[in-house]
Amino acid sequence: MKTIMVIGSGQMGGGIAQVAAQAGYSVILNDIKEEFVNRGLSIIEKNLRRNVEKGKLNGPDMEIILGRITKSVSLQDAALADLVIEAAVENMKVKAQIFSQLDVICPEHTILSTNTSSLPITEIAASTKRPEKVIGMHFMNPVPVMKLVEIIRGLATSDEVYKTIEELSLEMGKIPVEVNDAPGFISNRVLIPMINEAIYTLYEGIATVEAIDNVMKLGMNHPMGPLALADLIGLDTVLSICEVLHEGLGDKYRPCPLLRKYVKAGWYGKKSGRGFYNYN
Ligand code: CAA
Ligand code: NAD
Repeated sequence: MKTIMVIGSGQMGGGIAQVAAQAGYSVILNDIKEEFVNRGLSIIEKNLRRNVEKGKLNGPDMEIILGRITKSVSLQDAALADLVIEAAVENMKVKAQIFSQLDVICPEHTILSTNTSSLPITEIAASTKRPEKVIGMHFMNPVPVMKLVEIIRGLATSDEVYKTIEELSLEMGKIPVEVNDAPGFISNRVLIPMINEAIYTLYEGIATVEAIDNVMKLGMNHPMGPLALADLIGLDTVLSICEVLHEGLGDKYRPCPLLRKYVKAGWYGKKSGRGFYNYN
């Protein structure tokens, strides 16, 4: 495997492109608009520069890593990829459309993976004629820092493809954990109900944003409170995941109306400048 195409240059796609380039791969970073790819690239550059300033990376190596990443605004560039890691928005229709196009564009050997937070890998795979080569590769945010990659097999995913993705995760400095295909896998089945409950706690007027986050930080040693974490993930993404859990697992996962209201208002958290906290 030499060339990895990352689809979506948002916070996850950018992070995945960075760790893939750091692991020595040629990376094609794709989004629907050039300005989005440029924004992703500038965050990668900022992260690498910070590592240079801290003495964790030298300047020439930074240039080599950046030189491995090429920009793309056309899915046709997937014709050059040995592996695709899709990190576009958390929406089944969007992902199914991307995968059906990739299936036509990519060479036969290309593995198609998705960084989905919650959607069924088996259903995404069904939009292709190569379900044995479709797999979930679920990185955590922020990608350059977090050690975990959940690897999720669809119903038809081959052992060979699983092994390749497991080895790649290790090469990227990550620790893979195998999970069966179920709504939210392990990570978000456990995490999102906590975040949703924190939002209900706010909605019901039980405490302030700061109090809720402080209780979980100071009382449970979480590195950040659930509401700050929701803002980091993106409230649009939190809602999409919660809806998948609600639909697949039942009423106890019902998204809090306040979460819906914030998303309707365009308050997506850190990425839009406003969520439970104000970032402007
Ligand atoms: N990109 C790259 N590096 C980053 C970063 C980012 N966005 N944010 C922080 N870092 C780096 C810093 O440069 C610093 O690096 P050094 O150790 O080299 O100095 C290190 O991370 C620690 O950062 P800070 O000192 O600035 O801040 P911190 O100690 O408070 O850590 C944090 C920040 C790592 C985000 C920490 O608060 C944390 O672990 N939060 C919880 C994150 C979490 O739970 N992620 C999972 C989200 S759920 C998910 O991803 C799945 C899903 O599908 C939704
Ligand atoms: P984001 O909103 O930061 O970025 C999404 C990017 O995808 C945007 O730049 C958008 O322009 C692009 N995009 C949308 N449709 C596209 C298409 N058809 N082709 C190419 N690019 C397209 O979102 P994110 O937080 O990076 O999340 C991306 C994926 O990763 C989602 O599936 C999400 O569930 C998953 N994920 C998110 C987190 C998190 O903490 N945010 C963690 C793990 C996994």
